[in-house]
Amino acid sequence: MKVLVVGSGGREHVICWKISQSPKVDKIYCAPGNAGISEVAECVDIKAMDFDNLVKFAKDNGIDLTVVGMDDPLVGGIVDAFEAEGLRVFGPRKNAAILEGSKAFSKDLMKKYNIPTASYETFTSPEDAKKYLETSKYPIVLKADGLALGKGVLICNTMEEAMEGVNELMLDKKFGSAGNTIVVEEFMTGREVSVLSFVDGNTIKIMSSAQDHKRAKDGDQGLNTGGMGNFSPSPFYTEEVDEFCKKYIYQATVDAMKSEGRPFKGVIFFGLMLTPEGPKVLEYNARFGDPEAQVVLPRMKNDIVDVFEACIDGTLDKIDLQFGDDACVCVVLASDGYPLEYKKGYEIFGMENFKDKDDYFLFHAGTKFNEEGKVVTNGGRVLGVTALGKDLIDARAKAYEATEWVNFENKYMRHDIGRSIDHQ
Ligand code: AMP
Ligand code: GLY
Repeated sequence: MKVLVVGSGGREHVICWKISQSPKVDKIYCAPGNAGISEVAECVDIKAMDFDNLVKFAKDNGIDLTVVGMDDPLVGGIVDAFEAEGLRVFGPRKNAAILEGSKAFSKDLMKKYNIPTASYETFTSPEDAKKYLETSKYPIVLKADGLALGKGVLICNTMEEAMEGVNELMLDKKFGSAGNTIVVEEFMTGREVSVLSFVDGNTIKIMSSAQDHKRAKDGDQGLNTGGMGNFSPSPFYTEEVDEFCKKYIYQATVDAMKSEGRPFKGVIFFGLMLTPEGPKVLEYNARFGDPEAQVVLPRMKNDIVDVFEACIDGTLDKIDLQFGDDACVCVVLASDGYPLEYKKGYEIFGMENFKDKDDYFLFHAGTKFNEEGKVVTNGGRVLGVTALGKDLIDARAKAYEATEWVNFENKYMRHDIGRSIDHQ
């Protein structure tokens, strides 16, 4: 069969790699892809938001299955565009991807269906938001309603910061129309865990847990990023936590979406905070995490194409999802300056060191071929150096060892990915 993957990051690289292991698949295309993806898939120069040309490509090339990795096209309705032409596609429709596309929607859903989350208020007027913030408890959290590359969340320690935050989001429109509505949310404390799941509209199957490192700098300092590294499984995701989430969060979310007439098919990514009062939902995403997918999928035993098809066909209850009892760590090599300004176009050296090494992966995020055919940096997050090990300590040592094998000018990484496992 022929598969098309939509996206161009490290997440799409690991998805293509995992699909390439399916005996059912003869050919993989990725639009638009990147330099590393071209080792496992044929990259097609069509942008992820160009639905008309993606649909045309799928029809012209007899694509049997399309898998959408990114949030923007999902929230924009790419699945509806493919389905309208009778094409098979993995991902939520627009009316379900709103679970990620609107924080106001997801907060209201959780409130209505008693799914544990931080208390909140929603505002469409900056004056009303400011009035509320005059009598709030601090710290407090402001969130742009819409998609903002994971950066539309402001943690405000003082009233002054909160007032400034309202100005940034609602008046200066730092994240465009994403800030037309804002959610003002109670500040929660605790460890964060990422839990990815497959959903077929009715049934939900949980993948192994992961832990992200969102801040740019060591010690969780600096600005929020898309994620600077990850490990799986999270030792903080205990059986007790799992039991609680199964009882109050996972199936409850799937059932709530169904009751709202928005059945969800695809991946739900639960961003959880393990608070002193129990697990609460920080946010939902309607897709695999990046780099969560890079540490979860190498540990998955199943043929991923079977799982994608079961989600589309509503037969996920027949799938026994299985993960190894190994561990995986991904350290992101970024361009110095990310998530703000950074330079790109630097040649990347040493990639061949990852060839034929079973436990080591070099997933490409922001890379491309330059005019001379050399692989160069082309984004903030450049590479995900990933290693499997017998446990987290082993995987972490291997991943950090491998970060030395590859080099480029302006290479930047965190040195404490997985440090928290030393302080359990
Ligand atoms: P989100 O995009 O909603 O996951 O927010 C990005 C990051 O901001 C999260 O991963 C948390 O680290 C932090 N954050 C979001 N909401 C809260 C909250 N209510 N309390 C504390 N931290 C939060
Ligand atoms: N790493 C967090 C995300 O994919 O949203």
